[in-house]
Amino acid sequence: MSATPTTSNPNKALWEKGDFTRLADTMRGSGEAVARSVGITKGMKVLDLGCGDGTTALPQAVLGADVLGVDIASNLVAAGNRRAQERGLPNLRFEEGDASNLQGLAAGRFDLVVSLFGAMFAPRPADVAKEMVRVTRRGGRIVMGNWIPGDPTLVAQILRISSAYSPPPPEGFVSPMTWGVESNVLERFGGAGVARERIAFARDTYMFEFPGRPAGFVDVFRRYYGPTMNAFEAAEKNGRAADLLRELEALFESQNRHAGRDATSIPATFLRVTVSV
Ligand SMILES: C[S@@+](CC[C@H](N)C(=O)[O-])C[C@H]1O[C@@H](n2cnc3c(N)ncnc32)[C@H](O)[C@@H]1O
Repeated sequence: MSATPTTSNPNKALWEKGDFTRLADTMRGSGEAVARSVGITKGMKVLDLGCGDGTTALPQAVLGADVLGVDIASNLVAAGNRRAQERGLPNLRFEEGDASNLQGLAAGRFDLVVSLFGAMFAPRPADVAKEMVRVTRRGGRIVMGNWIPGDPTLVAQILRISSAYSPPPPEGFVSPMTWGVESNVLERFGGAGVARERIAFARDTYMFEFPGRPAGFVDVFRRYYGPTMNAFEAAEKNGRAADLLRELEALFESQNRHAGRDATSIPATFLRVTVSV
């Protein structure tokens, strides 16, 4: 389903554009692996922030947590609630909200706040860090996954290539990729009152698994992933869409671990941040 944006909030419009569930379908295995790795216990109160349609939220609920998914995109919230219902998970629900301002969520409400490539896309990163800390109970944890700027693997390279075809961002725009730099993470959580020795970093890997050739996977990004859709729209205006397509297809082809087969499996490195609140 392709949603027509009905909002003047560019952050929301970007993620309501297209249909991110088509991408999320290629990331389910790693979402389950992350859920298994964060120490879920039965009844644990979890906030999954920038949750999409629940790639990590749903398996956390399957493991017995009481999970609230919050996302700015109304179409993804609806998709998440449909998935929870289909799987018969009363302990999983999704609602609309902005990671920069979690009004309505009480302080200290969650044992664990998880955000895989979600909160990093919200504006005002200092506020995002403060809000994540505020809603986590003392003794609880925050686990973030953030793409890393300049990293040679898939996602950072898609964003690097796409930005060369897109108009410059508006004045004052803070790139989401700044969340992939440890010093920024320390500064932002430091501003929220967290001492640096309570913040740990690790490199981790997400796998993208697509049942077809890399060019077919690029086409999914082109048709359904807001940031790539925007890059193609800008490139088309400049008559450069074919160049963008060629660059992305070469990238996906070169990173595919199933080269020559009718399947695509591409790893992407991310910065895993664990904050003890
Ligand atoms: C790359 S997707 C990741 C989704 C999900 N965490 C996953 O792993 O599939 C980024 C998500 O962040 C959400 N998002 C972007 N800005 C947000 C904000 N300000 N507040 C809450 N969610 C936001 C988007 O709507 C989108 O679902």
